[in-house]
Amino acid sequence: MKILKYIWLKFFNTYGIISNNGSDTVNLPNILEAKKRTNKEIEIKTNEYIINNNLKHLGDNYCYYIKTYGCQMNVHDSENIKAILEDMGFTETDVLEEADLILLNTCSIRENAHNKVFGFLGRIKHLKETKPHIITGLCGCMAQEESVVKEIMERYKWMDLVFGTHNIHRLPNILERAMATRELEIEVFSKEGDIFENIPVKRDSKYKAWVNIMYGCDKFCTYCIVPYTRGKQRSRKPEFILDEVNDLISQGYQEVTLLGQNVNAYGKDLPGNYRMGDLLRDVAETGIRRIRFMTSHPWDFDDEMIDIISKYDNIMPYVHLPLQSGSNRILKLMGRRYTKESYLNLVQKLKKKIPSLALTTDIIVGFPGETDKDFEDTLEVVKKCQYDSAFTFIFSPRVGTPAARMKDDISLEEKNKRLYKLNELVNKYANKNNQKYLDKIVPVLIEGKGEKGNLMGYTDTMKLVNIDGDDSNIGFIVPVKITSIKTWSLDGKIIF
Ligand code: 5AD
Ligand code: SF4
Repeated sequence: MKILKYIWLKFFNTYGIISNNGSDTVNLPNILEAKKRTNKEIEIKTNEYIINNNLKHLGDNYCYYIKTYGCQMNVHDSENIKAILEDMGFTETDVLEEADLILLNTCSIRENAHNKVFGFLGRIKHLKETKPHIITGLCGCMAQEESVVKEIMERYKWMDLVFGTHNIHRLPNILERAMATRELEIEVFSKEGDIFENIPVKRDSKYKAWVNIMYGCDKFCTYCIVPYTRGKQRSRKPEFILDEVNDLISQGYQEVTLLGQNVNAYGKDLPGNYRMGDLLRDVAETGIRRIRFMTSHPWDFDDEMIDIISKYDNIMPYVHLPLQSGSNRILKLMGRRYTKESYLNLVQKLKKKIPSLALTTDIIVGFPGETDKDFEDTLEVVKKCQYDSAFTFIFSPRVGTPAARMKDDISLEEKNKRLYKLNELVNKYANKNNQKYLDKIVPVLIEGKGEKGNLMGYTDTMKLVNIDGDDSNIGFIVPVKITSIKTWSLDGKIIF
């Protein structure tokens, strides 16, 4: 038996899989395995997610609580996880204290996301002391990190399950084992699997939907952990994406956001020449009212895409185009494959072809070796692009990435100063761009109630609007007159 188990583990390790699968032996996630890119053709599997009859009632009378960290990809994964749990009989609660099953869907992108997760685990431990039957699990990108799995095995043994980003379709079996053994169950495949087309989804919104168009990333920007935690780029076939969009239309959805780490590279891993421009055109032709897409990499943003965005009214005039740095020297160290000049050239083309364009970005300050001059170059690009908003970050070294090994001699104080200065400039342009909306009438998809009990929704350019109006407007795109401006949102009232 022992020999069989050894052979089994040996086989799976060859393919970068880790699992204790009910045994005491655990092989940790392996970043070198995760980094490998093979030519193996990705298979499309339409019946890989299976839920046996005996698992369909495992969660009857139990509530689950899921907390999601990080990007939209994780938010959408949580929508899949919720549907799987509901297939097993669990019901959702948004009250932590009521939950029998608690899952944290985690993000690895920066150190602070990591710290928040371990902080939250402390809170769960207290709960578990009073309610020992609670099952607790961790999934998402952190589950793909060796150091995290080790830490859980050493200091958080009271947890029940850990599963990776490539293991979501196997959740029923992992959970069954965890509930039966009440021992820490770990199943993380270091290497990506195929594309699973039959995973169910419980969407958070009835009006706007996330639609994955690809998984993984092959860009390997030197600071970024995503290519390791999410595996190689795998594009979904257009027919599956279009079927999903058509199905959403028939359910009354108004908006889809096409999701991927680097959507502009869509199709490059598929046979033939079908690319993101073709997909955008075909999705636009379905007639769905609003189409968004994210995230774009400037390298793959071709002219065809720009033409298609400008041609179709239902492709929103909104582009999130991460800059990361405005210094050519730093861009090179980051492995970004474009220069300040080529980035500015692309922005100019976009603004010219799409006059109502709203542009947002991501910027990292304090990358190893960033000088005052490099930082000034970033400020210069911000001044030229006048972004509608920007997500700004201090560089956070991620274990296993090349940038984490680069000499970083900038003090934290200096990094904070740069971040502050950058944010001031970003806010100035965000406010300036918002001012243009005063007294204008703009279409807004009313998504629901805002924090103050009024309605809220987004313009086609992705501006958040708080609105006076009647609840019967929820779920519709309605004309809204903008009555006042804030830096991060607009106020308005519905007019007919
Ligand atoms: N440190 C800081 N910011 C990072 N990002 C990605 N990796 C890191 C890192 N190691 C930022 C990039 C990316 C966004 C999602 O997160 O700006 O576009
Ligand atoms: Fe990370 Fe770069 Fe891929 Fe974006 S394109 S996910 S920053 S490696």
